[in-house]
Amino acid sequence: MAKNKEARPPTYAVSVVGLSGTEKEKGNCGVGKSCLCNRYVCSNADGYYTEHTSVLSTIDFGGRVVNNDHFLYWGEVPHRSDDGLECKIQIIEQTEFIDDQTFLPHRSTNLQPYSKRAAASKLQSAEKLMYICTDQLGLEQDFDQKQMADGKLNIDGFLLCIDVSKGCNRKFEDQMKFVNSLYSQMVKSKKPIVIAATKCDECMEQYLRDLQVFAASKKNLLVVETSARSRINVDLCFNALTQQMDKPRGKPKIIPYLEAYKVQ
Ligand code: GTP
Ligand code: MG
Repeated sequence: MAKNKEARPPTYAVSVVGLSGTEKEKGNCGVGKSCLCNRYVCSNADGYYTEHTSVLSTIDFGGRVVNNDHFLYWGEVPHRSDDGLECKIQIIEQTEFIDDQTFLPHRSTNLQPYSKRAAASKLQSAEKLMYICTDQLGLEQDFDQKQMADGKLNIDGFLLCIDVSKGCNRKFEDQMKFVNSLYSQMVKSKKPIVIAATKCDECMEQYLRDLQVFAASKKNLLVVETSARSRINVDLCFNALTQQMDKPRGKPKIIPYLEAYKVQ
């Protein structure tokens, strides 16, 4: 639910999820959750980083940014809808942090598998700091320090990232198996879900078609074709979800990748 209805603009929290885990699960590169968050929270090109490692030392895992959790707090973005209404969107990325010694997931207080943990709509983490980039870990004092307010968040909607590029050492059907079990957990929360097809700058047409079939079979989920690299439809996918969280505003207009690319 939106907070602070009267006095201040409402605040919504979005959880960005998708295939995560060890190299065995996700191949040797992620599906693009971090890059999508990074593009959305940071409007200037200098603040965009292409690498956000999930392989961490025990010290970095325990630092105040990661805070022994398997999620990152990406901060808060002011948002104004087409009809002029203002709100704030807080962004969470649900990932899996891997120990740089054992190459197994770090042990956190939440021992549930990713699909259950990432589908949670209530998150807690005392004094957790906003994540900015990998270099910040261990050097927190050298970067802007913003705390996740109240040490807790209620998730209002999910952005489900599905990589439609060739992928690295990973089969698309394996990604979809993972996504299927994740979706079956997320749907229990009854929160809106929007799919971000990621890395559309390297899109495999067949994967995108398979993804459309999947989306159509899941209560007609909206699919937004995005590219964090080329900065295409990044705001649109978050805005589409915001509109669904804020029901009276109605359905967003969805622009296919090529069309959005042309008007860029
Ligand atoms: P984990 O959190 O480790 O599970 O990964 P992730 O889902 O956060 O993926 P991340 O955003 O770290 O991206 C993984 C790799 O994909 C990086 O090397 C990025 O440069 C690349 N990548 C991310 N977004 C795009 C994109 O829009 N296009 C292309 N071509 N590559 C991308
Ligand atoms: Mg990540």
